[in-house]
Amino acid sequence: EKKRTLIIVSNRLPLSLKKIDGSYESSLSSGGLVTALSGISSSTNVRWFGWPGINIEDPEERKIATKALAEKNGVGIFLDEKLAHSHYNDFSNGIAWPILHYQSGVSFDEDAWKAYQRVNEIFADAVASEVQNGDLVWVHDYHLLLFPAYLRSRLKELGKTNCPIGFTLHTPFPAEDFWRALPVHNELLEGVLACDLIGFHTDEYKRNFIECCSRGLDVKIEGGDIEYNGNKAHIGTFIVGIDPQKFTDGLLNPPVQQRVKDLEEVYKSKVVILGVDRLDYTKGLVQKLQGYEYFLQQHPELKQKVVLIQVAIPSREDVKEYQELEKELNTLVGKINGEHSTPYGTPIVYIHRSVSFTDLSALYRISDICLITSSRDGMNLVAAEFVACQKDRYGVLVLSELAGAAAFMGTGSITFNPSSGQQVCDSIYKAATMSREEKKTSYENLEEFVTTNTRSLANAAFTYPSLQKRVISTTMT
Ligand code: UDP
Ligand code: G6P
Repeated sequence: EKKRTLIIVSNRLPLSLKKIDGSYESSLSSGGLVTALSGISSSTNVRWFGWPGINIEDPEERKIATKALAEKNGVGIFLDEKLAHSHYNDFSNGIAWPILHYQSGVSFDEDAWKAYQRVNEIFADAVASEVQNGDLVWVHDYHLLLFPAYLRSRLKELGKTNCPIGFTLHTPFPAEDFWRALPVHNELLEGVLACDLIGFHTDEYKRNFIECCSRGLDVKIEGGDIEYNGNKAHIGTFIVGIDPQKFTDGLLNPPVQQRVKDLEEVYKSKVVILGVDRLDYTKGLVQKLQGYEYFLQQHPELKQKVVLIQVAIPSREDVKEYQELEKELNTLVGKINGEHSTPYGTPIVYIHRSVSFTDLSALYRISDICLITSSRDGMNLVAAEFVACQKDRYGVLVLSELAGAAAFMGTGSITFNPSSGQQVCDSIYKAATMSREEKKTSYENLEEFVTTNTRSLANAAFTYPSLQKRVISTTMT
C-alpha cells in the first residue's frame, strides 16, 4: 500500500532565512501558525511548501538554502523581491489582515491585488507539479485564499483527481457587513470554496464565513456543507492547541531551571505580570500599557510590588502601521517608566526582540499573571503556553474576551474588554489580589483544556471524513 504524503502549504515556512553580513542565516519563524503545526512538520511523509522570507538569485546559494530547508522537510518557493513585497506587505498584511481583524479604513490597491493573485498562482504551480495522486494538501491562512481553486484546476488538468484539499484559517473571520468592504470579497471566498474541508478556530468565525458565502455567492448550504461550482466543502470548527509536553519537558532542562532560579531571585518581592505578543496592533499593546498605567495610578499601595515584563516580538516591519506602532510603544513605555520608576525598579521591562525557548519557558514559569489584551485574535496560543508552564503555581490568566481563546478558556480566566483601560486595570487588580484557593480552581479549569486539546488540529487533518472521500486505498502514517 502506498503511503500518502501530507503537503502543508503556508506563506511562511517554519524556518525563515535572513541575509546577515553577506551570508544566509535561518531562524525559527515567529507566530502561532508555526507553533500549531510544529508537532506534525517533523513527522515522516510531510513536505511543507512556503516562502523562505527572502529571495536568493545566485543558483549556488539557492541550492545550499534549498538543502537546508529540505533537512526540515521544507520546500522553498522563491519569489521575486518586489512581487513578494507586494503580496506579503501590501495585500496580505496591508489589506487582508486588517479586514479580518475588524480594522476599518483599509484602502484597496489594484497592484497589490494583482501581486496577490500572481503569488497564489505561483504557489499552485509549484505544489501541483510535486503532488502525487492520493496526497493530502493542507493550506493555511489568509495569504493563500485563492490558492485552493488554482490548485484544483491545475490538478484536474494533470489528472491528479484524488488529492483532497483542506484549508485552515488562523485569524478571525469577520461579520458579513465588514467583509463586504473588500472589493474582492467574493473572489477570495470562491478561492477557498474549492476545498474539501475548511476549518476555523471558533464557531463565530465559521458562522460569519457561511453567512458571507450565502450572501455573496450562489451557494447551496446543507448542514455544515457548502456546495459551489460543483464542489462540496465541509465547514468545521477545529480547536487549535499546543503540545504542553514540550513545555513541561522544557522546564525540566537544567538551563531552564537555572534561568527560573535566577529570575525568581530577581523578582522575589514582585507580582510579575507577563505579556508575550508579536508587535501587532491587533494585540492591543497600547491599551495594555494604558490600562497598566491606570493600575499604577489607582493602586499606589501595590505600585512598588508589581512589574510588567512585556516581550514584543518584531513583526512585519516593512508595513507602515507596524512601524508607527513601534514608535508609539517606545514613547509610551518611556513615559510610563519615566513617571513611575524609583531607584528600586521600573514598572515595565520592555523586551523588543524574539526570546529563546529557554527564556520564554522561564518567563512563563516565574510569572504570576499573563495579560492578553488582543482587540481581535484568531486564537492566541500564548494563553495555552502560559497555562502549560504553571502547574502547581496557579498563575492567573487575564484574557481579552475578543481573543478566540476566550471562547474556550473563558472559564478559568479573568475576561474583560480591552478597549476599556479601566477594565484592563480592574482585571489586573483582581488577578493580583486573588486568593490561592480561587487561583487553584481557575487554574484547574484551564489546565484541563490545555492538556486535552493537544494537536487537535493535526488529528482533524488526518482523519476528517470529507478529506478521505477522494482517497482510494492509501494510508497516512
Ligand atoms: N513566540 C515566538 N517568538 C518569541 C516568543 C514567542 O515565536 O520570541 C511564539 C509563542 O511561543 C507563540 C507564538 O509565538 O507560540 C504566538 O502565537 P499566538 O497564537 O499567541 O499569536 P500570533 O503571533 O500567531 O498572532
Ligand atoms: C499569525 C498568522 C500567521 C503568521 C504569523 C507570523 O500567526 O496567522 O500566518 O505566519 O502571524 O507573521 P508573519 O507575517 O511573520 O508570517
